[in-house]
Amino acid sequence: MNTRKSPQTALIHSDYQAPEGFAAFPGAIHHASTVLFKNVAAMRSGDWKEKNSYTYGLHGTPTTFTLEARLAEIEGGEQCLLAPSGLAAICMVDFALLKSGDDVLLPDNVYNPNRELGRWLSADFGITARYYDPLIGEGIAALIQPNTKLIWTEAPGSVSMEVPDLPAICKAAHERGVLVALDNTWSAGLALRGFDLGADIVMQALTKYQSGGSDVLMGAVITRDRDLHDRISLAHMRLGLGVGADDAYLVSRGLPTMRLRFDAHDAAARKLAAWLQGRPEIKRVLHPAFPDCPGHETWKRDFSGAGGLFSVIFDERYTEELTDRFVDALKLFKIGFSWGGPNSLAVPYRIQHMRKNWQDKGTLVRFNVGLEDVSDLIADIEQAFGEMP
Ligand SMILES: Cc1ncc(COP(=O)(O)O)c(C=O)c1O
Repeated sequence: MNTRKSPQTALIHSDYQAPEGFAAFPGAIHHASTVLFKNVAAMRSGDWKEKNSYTYGLHGTPTTFTLEARLAEIEGGEQCLLAPSGLAAICMVDFALLKSGDDVLLPDNVYNPNRELGRWLSADFGITARYYDPLIGEGIAALIQPNTKLIWTEAPGSVSMEVPDLPAICKAAHERGVLVALDNTWSAGLALRGFDLGADIVMQALTKYQSGGSDVLMGAVITRDRDLHDRISLAHMRLGLGVGADDAYLVSRGLPTMRLRFDAHDAAARKLAAWLQGRPEIKRVLHPAFPDCPGHETWKRDFSGAGGLFSVIFDERYTEELTDRFVDALKLFKIGFSWGGPNSLAVPYRIQHMRKNWQDKGTLVRFNVGLEDVSDLIADIEQAFGEMP
């Protein structure tokens, strides 16, 4: 056979091999759908569930395996599965662990799309989803039925900020053979050690602090138990929840600075929250590190930090029209969902429509405190207060 390739084939095939021995801090970005096998025997012996070899891009590349291993280590777990968003990670857990006839318990303050997923499971999949008071603690025992398979916890709720008693919920659940999944997004796996407090599954929206740039969607499901991981990885495979190599790289790139960013968000948010607490426009500051926040004592016991996300309740004399005017008048704070990026954000929530037993009549506004100078953020809020007569 002529060894000279035609230009057309040379566009596709090359015998060049880069020299061995290259080293640098960033890991390589492996883009792959097709993964190549040395021979048919290697292809036949590959097991997509094992992370010690490669079978297909969906099941992992060095880039995604490395990120998974790092996230598992940071969170104190053993295994990790990546998903294309935090919500996809939540869905993966539910579809892995719940089947027709089962029951799942969710906190009443749960991330709203997780609540919506519960509604969908109830309406179309023969699974009951029931909602519990996030401050229920050991009282969750009374809600557990023989068909209850999973309890979701969120610490704290990412809008109304109640801090659940995770160890009490886990104890009651485990005594009855029920698994507990923790949405640990607020703490980025840094300020709350979910596995040490009893969670079986820790889920993270890496979209927030891990990526840190408001430019990536990704989620992770971390476990400490191989059988549980295998059950969830079946759903990962069946649902096809692969992530892109460039996104995995961006998250990996964010990790080394996450501690510094998280602590800076935390310090700025506490300064801003303290200032807001002294303002006549604000009735309550819902920040877990502040005594007004339900579950504050639990936060003091279980958490080592807080990050940049908290909410306030306006005094009732301000109608929704006025508080909307306040949010519209903000200049540095932009209006938008999510958090964990450098830009400060503000979002008004119709919390009274979201929660049946919500008592406060005032408007709730959630702040994500970014990495700007706090005195500029305070000045921004002060001028926006001026727009509310
Ligand atoms: C508490 C919480 N969990 C999960 C998610 C889902 O993350 P993603 O936006 O990556 O789907 C969010 C998103 O805002 C969230 O706030």
